[in-house]
Amino acid sequence: MAEFISLLFSNVFLLGITFIVCLFILDFMKSRKNGSHFPPGPRGLPFLGNILQVDYRNPAETFYQLGKQFGNIFSVQFFWTKMVVLNGFKVNKEALINRSEDIADRPRFPTYEKLGCAGETKGIVLAHYGNSWKEQRRFALTTLRNFGMGKKSLEERVTEEAQFLCSEFKSQKYQFDPTYLINNAVSNVICSITFGDRFEYNDEKFLRLLALFNAALKAESGLLAQILNEIPFLNHIPWLFDRVMEPEYELVAFLKEMISEHQKTWDPNYTRDFIDAYLVEMEKVKEDGSSSFTETNLLMTTYDLFSAGTETTSTTLRWAVLFMLLYPDVQSKVQEEIDRVIGRERKPTMGDVLQMPYTNAVIHEVQRCGDIIPLALPHMTYRDMEMKGFLIPKGTTIITNLSSVLKDQEVWEKPLQFYPKHFLDENGKFAKQEAFIPFSAGKRSCLGEQLARMELFLFFTTFLQQLTFEIPSDQPRPREDPIYAFTLSPQPYNIRVVSRV
Ligand code: HEM
Ligand SMILES: *[C@@H]1O[C@H](CO)[C@@H](O)[C@H](O)[C@H]1NC(C)=O
Ligand SMILES: *[C@@H]1O[C@H](CO)[C@@H](O)[C@H](O)[C@H]1NC(C)=O
Ligand SMILES: *[C@@H]1O[C@H](CO)[C@@H](O)[C@H](O)[C@H]1NC(C)=O
Repeated sequence: MAEFISLLFSNVFLLGITFIVCLFILDFMKSRKNGSHFPPGPRGLPFLGNILQVDYRNPAETFYQLGKQFGNIFSVQFFWTKMVVLNGFKVNKEALINRSEDIADRPRFPTYEKLGCAGETKGIVLAHYGNSWKEQRRFALTTLRNFGMGKKSLEERVTEEAQFLCSEFKSQKYQFDPTYLINNAVSNVICSITFGDRFEYNDEKFLRLLALFNAALKAESGLLAQILNEIPFLNHIPWLFDRVMEPEYELVAFLKEMISEHQKTWDPNYTRDFIDAYLVEMEKVKEDGSSSFTETNLLMTTYDLFSAGTETTSTTLRWAVLFMLLYPDVQSKVQEEIDRVIGRERKPTMGDVLQMPYTNAVIHEVQRCGDIIPLALPHMTYRDMEMKGFLIPKGTTIITNLSSVLKDQEVWEKPLQFYPKHFLDENGKFAKQEAFIPFSAGKRSCLGEQLARMELFLFFTTFLQQLTFEIPSDQPRPREDPIYAFTLSPQPYNIRVVSRV
């Protein structure tokens, strides 16, 4: 028996060694294949690539140094994945706009492939560049654009939510951290779009949805989820996958429940919301087996609207409030413009933007400085691509460093300062800037840009029309440096609101 076990062990051991040697050889061949025209980068270890060379307490600094050493287009390798990083306004603009289709694909996210459906990733955000993505994106864009659904327009829904949030702010007796309330309001806008109506802030179903979302967000940005995405075969270990993705499963179950409620009460003659509009589309293509308008895609697209449209907008609003605390003179200039153009009675509308260059400039500068998604989402080359003399093969991950554009020293007068004049000309008129790309650009640019701009403008002007933000007297001046993660968010701070009316 003992002999048998030792034989077994030595065999397993041999097998293991052979396996590892094979991997080394494969790895070596793979890295040779890239050839001499591949963008330069630091030498990495087999398997691991450059992961041990990154200073995880300050990754931006590591990459900044790499950029200095290798130039605006350089490569790094994480495990098996080769990535090319693009830095600066010129390079990113050329890639995102002139080469939009070349980099329009997304790398695989194995965790998501298992989530809604077997096989290919569905929805929009992480979908591969192809027919399904095109149809889903076009549908979502037109549906949001023509949103005259049910009883209210999109603008009315956002305006309504801004009023509710403001009342909530004003009803706080003590100083408070606005994160939670802002999150509620922004999530509610997406609820209103997808489910037809907003929730009361204390609605049980709503609170459950928010809790699920927070849990899912935590799980997704966790280390385990990232490892699962880097090393796909780990996804076949069921308990590991389930452990990481449990909040996502529950979220998907919640959305499924909402969808099936819609199906039960559906009236093709009266479209209440996004889900209804989608059901109409599904009905139209019922006979067409190749259509991408399926229940799975409905589920994943809805999921995407929530995951892409809530955290982003609410983080930006938190930056806006923070900058008002830190720059009270800017805050009073915005209030002065609001009083002059809108007054204290009428509710702000999108039509007011054109008359309010200063407020518009402040919101743009909040987005530029907040720089909330510094590396956008990863792209992947859809076909072989040549750029600035480099050859980047199909299937290479591309990181577009939006931060390096929003803070490019060659473009902005004061790249590292909050300086609304970046967006004003000498006559005080609003001045568009080409390097303003917080929503990215090109084929994969943010689908919710219009909605996000509407939310930022209407929430921000509604706040400052009705109240003034102040640092509570017993609190230190809040910090301006962000918390580094996938998104850059402000350090927690407390506010006091003083009613203006
Ligand atoms: C201030 C708020 C927002 C910012 C800064 C923002 C920014 C971004 C960025 C940087 C990307 C990645 C683009 C790329 O890969 O090149 C993106 C993608 C996306 N965003 Fe937003 N976003 C915001 C709000 C929203 C909202 C409100 C929605 C929903 C209605 C939304 C829906 C999406 C979708 C669906 C994508 C994926 C597009 C695709 O892959 O084709 N976003 N957004
Ligand atoms: C992106 O750009 C910023 C600002 O220039 C820089 O600090 C950071 O290291 C860059 N990140 C990468 C991944 O190159
Ligand atoms: C990108 O396209 C624009 C307009 O088509 C053109 O003027 C510009 O020279 C192009 N830039 C590069 C670097 O190819
Ligand atoms: C929808 O409207 C059409 C024509 O106006 C009518 O024939 C049909 O019965 C209506 N369907 C429902 C479910 O109300």
